[in-house]
Amino acid sequence: MTALVLAAGKGTRMASPLPKVLHPVAGEPMVSRVITQAFSAGIDEVRVVVGHQAQLVRQVVEPLGASVWVQSQQRGTADAVQAGSPATVDGLLLILSGDVPLLDAEDIRKIISDFKESQADLAVVTSVLKNPASLGRIVRSQGILKAIVEVADASQSTLKINEVNSGIYIGRADLICDLLDKVKPNNAKGELYLTDIIGVGIENGDRVIALTAPPRVAFGVNTQAELAKANKLLFQKIRQKHLEQGVIMLDPGSVYIEQGVEIGAGTVIYPNVFLRGKTKIGPCCVLEPGVFLADSELDESVHVKVGSVFEKAKVGAKAVIGPYARLRPETEVGTEAHIGNFVELKKTKLGARSKANHLTYLGDATVGADVNIGCGTITCNYAPDRKKYATVIGDGAFVGSDVQFVAPVQIGQEAVIASGSTITEDVPERALAIARSRQTNKLGYTPKGS
Ligand code: UD1
Ligand code: CA
Repeated sequence: MTALVLAAGKGTRMASPLPKVLHPVAGEPMVSRVITQAFSAGIDEVRVVVGHQAQLVRQVVEPLGASVWVQSQQRGTADAVQAGSPATVDGLLLILSGDVPLLDAEDIRKIISDFKESQADLAVVTSVLKNPASLGRIVRSQGILKAIVEVADASQSTLKINEVNSGIYIGRADLICDLLDKVKPNNAKGELYLTDIIGVGIENGDRVIALTAPPRVAFGVNTQAELAKANKLLFQKIRQKHLEQGVIMLDPGSVYIEQGVEIGAGTVIYPNVFLRGKTKIGPCCVLEPGVFLADSELDESVHVKVGSVFEKAKVGAKAVIGPYARLRPETEVGTEAHIGNFVELKKTKLGARSKANHLTYLGDATVGADVNIGCGTITCNYAPDRKKYATVIGDGAFVGSDVQFVAPVQIGQEAVIASGSTITEDVPERALAIARSRQTNKLGYTPKGS
């Protein structure tokens, strides 16, 4: 089955420089979400009709496996479907909008199975809403579907109807093509309305029905306020799923978890935590307030303290990180390692049980197991030639406080680096390296009684 996603409109009411369908909901652009839900509902071909800022939309949708069809002028939703070449579709066609972010795969599967069961030729999916706002109204006569009327064309009594058009349609592709040919721009906006295929089909004597769906299916985003509401509802739904799977949240409303995030049971999440992208968190971790994790992996029982930020980092079991630690991309922290306050790691591997507890920067470094990194230690990885160089520190090494490693430099196993050293040369294993000037005491320097 083929799905056609309409995503060519400008989204004028969003008042934003970003095309409407690229605005993210729970971290995922609206149109991406529609595409991924369609594929996971078992649809094998997804076509996306693009127009406004087509290049930008194309960059987002093509990597998801959808094909792109260009509507050169936005002449209305019927014209948009034409741009997707429905004549080249065999069998059934499902039409979706790129601005309906709460629709999920389960809803799509149900729409398809309800439609197949009905044996109708064409169906529009409708919902009953308390506040139907700007959505097209479903006009029935003695319960029988008659037409869809847009708000701009509706009479006062039609506006009172609270059954609305979700913007989702399913039907035989050949019939949809025939009906599209009959659509005329006879409306307040002078556009070619897709909604007209319903009335035209009914007049033709085709079997056209309305399939009712829950209100979220009809939740379209046309304004920033609606986008904010969609975010709120989707984040709430995601949280609910994690709560049901045994994640413990002290104040769920303040926790933001994006769609693709996985969290093990028994993990405790304090308020104001944000979990992004492909983050995977093992069981029994603790995330203290203000933790922000993007595309990062935590093994079991990791404790992340207040205000820590991870981006594409991996952390081994039982490690303790923070408060106020920053793990930047390509960082791997070993099992039971400790990273303390104001420590930044970039492209660094830190072995099991190693510690860097205070005020440290490690970049482009490989640190073995059971290493102690003293307070204020820095790898000087960036050279005047604008290249980055590596620091390698062997297992069991002890680095005193306030040490600088001027990379490239290698430190052997169990070597000791004296506090305050600037290390510019390799240190053999088990050696003591001291690289600081000797202290001189100038006696009587301060006059007595001053
Ligand atoms: C449309 C329906 C309305 C329905 C609502 C559901 C029409 C005329 N009205 O109204 O009955 O209740 O959706 O959300 O169909 N688009 C194009 N090309 C165009 C015009 C629009 O691709 O020329 C795309 C938009 O990008 C959007 C979708 O079609 O993704 C719907 O368009 P929009 O302008 O948002 O229609 P609504 O006013 O919401
Ligand atoms: Ca819309």
